[in-house]
Amino acid sequence: MSKISIFLFLILSTKPANAVTLVFSNDVYGELETCGCRSNPMGGLVRKQNYLLSLKDDLLQLDAGNLLFSSLDPPESLKTQQIEQAKTLLKAHDLMKHDAAVPGTKDFAFGVKTFFDLVKKSKIQYLAANLTYKNKHVFPPYKIFKKKNKDGKTIKIGVFGLLHPQLPWPKSIHIKAPIESAKKIISELKKQNVDLIIALTHQGLENDKKLAQNTDGIDFIVGGGSEAFLQTPLKIKKTFILQSSFRNQYIGVIPHLETKKIPESHLEPLEEKWDDPPGKFSEIHKLIDKFKKNLKKLSVIKITKKTNGTKEYGTFPQCVGCHQVQFDFWRKTNHANALKVLYDSKQLYQRECMNCHSLGKSLTAPLQSYETLAIRSYQKEKKSKYGLKKYSLIEEKISPEEITPFLNKIHSADEKKTMFFRKKDPSYLKGTPSQTIHPFKKIWGSVQCEHCHQTQQNHPFSENPQGSQRITEKTCLKCHNYERSNEWFTSDKKLDKKLFKIKLKMISCPRE
Ligand code: HEC
Ligand code: HEC
Ligand code: HEC
Ligand code: HEC
Repeated sequence: MSKISIFLFLILSTKPANAVTLVFSNDVYGELETCGCRSNPMGGLVRKQNYLLSLKDDLLQLDAGNLLFSSLDPPESLKTQQIEQAKTLLKAHDLMKHDAAVPGTKDFAFGVKTFFDLVKKSKIQYLAANLTYKNKHVFPPYKIFKKKNKDGKTIKIGVFGLLHPQLPWPKSIHIKAPIESAKKIISELKKQNVDLIIALTHQGLENDKKLAQNTDGIDFIVGGGSEAFLQTPLKIKKTFILQSSFRNQYIGVIPHLETKKIPESHLEPLEEKWDDPPGKFSEIHKLIDKFKKNLKKLSVIKITKKTNGTKEYGTFPQCVGCHQVQFDFWRKTNHANALKVLYDSKQLYQRECMNCHSLGKSLTAPLQSYETLAIRSYQKEKKSKYGLKKYSLIEEKISPEEITPFLNKIHSADEKKTMFFRKKDPSYLKGTPSQTIHPFKKIWGSVQCEHCHQTQQNHPFSENPQGSQRITEKTCLKCHNYERSNEWFTSDKKLDKKLFKIKLKMISCPRE
């Protein structure tokens, strides 16, 4: 070996760690990508990994619960896709060498057994000092992690998991009093001469404060469950409390952890600059693409229970004839084009998204044919033997991929000019937007009339034609919630009424 290559070998093999850095997340809710419904979306695991790789330090990676799922009681129809999504997320965390996590209430969304099965296959060390299931501890109470600081000295960090019984856990799970459990673990860890003690908790910010108030010896509490945005950690006595908002939009970072000080701590926004550079596809990128390719297959499910909310919608082709003016207004709003963004992000078959970006594909409705998003009927000409023309009525099922470009055309067309649809097809349509819609029996795609106007089943021939429900804030907020339209809300998560009025005006159809 030449001198130079020995020198290079030494540099490469002893990649120096600058410091021990803690990175933490909470309430990730199974999010793999930037969460789409914002004009400036942040987050995503590809960005997280690229950011972590930019840190030259020895990392301790923790997650404070609600890593896998986004709600406590999701509809059964989401199960197949969401479990596959959770598996993808766990695999990505293994690739990032994630260290430890504590269970959150929503991690049990599809049952206790599903959660235990999922995390058994992952390399993440789940910790929970005060959780028992059938009188047994399922996860170890704590683990001591050894990380190297910049002088090469080993730092021993004791991390313990802690939950709070007041949260909505599944019935079969028992949670013991947290403060007592914490005190026991702290003294145990002290006996083992750890340099630092971290409580990894899922109990909400208020309970984290009580924990800090009533114990001695915890250096950091990495908390979850209340989506708190703590740009500067809270300090109570000698304990710092940390939380990093939600959905992986920000990653919490505490460099030089071993100093027990926080001068460089911050929440790193996972912005565009952390995307894979052009031409590079990281392993995590490939993993997520593979999951998305699978979505179509995973969207086909059988629902055995018939649930409420299966009203038969007319869908907008049935309204156009009598409400031309409103139709022409509506089609120019982005509501009419709401499938396009799913199409562009390859998530047309993501059931969760369809629930708000489409009609009648409600999560609780028993979907026999998810792959049909429109039905068009037309007379097809058949030549008979004797040169006579014969017609038969065709009812054609139209897929999400096919209806999206059509709706996009309807959205951008000029009423006076004619537009075309499927020119190659002998049954192709030509005409103004309302003419091209005429042959459609149903189009469920996009945000449309009956999302806002809950007309009666036999409108306008019901006894009380004016009986349709008035449009209120509630009509809009079931989709424009804090998570999806956060600019509609003030910093304390209350609806900004002034802005709401403006938004309402933007989409209010004109009267005749
Ligand atoms: C709870 C209802 C809801 C669900 C579920 C939902 N969306 Fe949305 N989405 C919205 C709303 C409301 C908007 C409009 C946000 C705004 O402009 O205020 C939106 C807008 C978007 C946009 C456009 C953002 C922009 O800046 O123009 C994208 C992209 C998007 N959604 C993707 C998705 C994807 C992908 C999914 C599934 C993973 C999804 N949405 C699930 C309600 C939802
Ligand atoms: C056969 C014609 C016809 C069709 C089809 C029709 N409407 Fe109407 N609609 C009317 C008439 C007529 C009125 C006026 C009733 C009145 O004010 O007495 C009306 C009124 C309304 C109103 C305002 C009055 C109210 O109830 O608050 C809304 C909203 C409305 N229709 C929505 C729809 C939607 C959505 C569809 C499609 C699912 C639809 N209509 C289909 C004829 C029709
Ligand atoms: C995003 C919500 C939204 C969508 C989607 C929507 N509308 Fe409207 N529409 C409104 C609002 C808001 C008004 C104003 C009157 C009100 O507050 O009820 C209105 C008014 C109307 C009126 C007039 C009511 C009157 O009092 O004269 C009709 C008719 C109507 N819409 C039909 C339609 C039809 C047909 C479609 C689909 C092609 C549609 N709307 C799509 C929100 C919506
Ligand atoms: C079924 C879900 C849903 C409902 C209900 C809904 N929206 Fe939306 N809204 C969306 C989605 C999705 C988008 C984003 C569409 C896109 O950009 O692809 C959106 C976009 C918008 C926009 C931007 C429109 C534009 O043309 O740029 C406004 C404003 C808006 N919504 C207001 C409202 C108001 C006000 C209500 C209640 C009357 C309402 N929405 C009801 C889902 C919904």
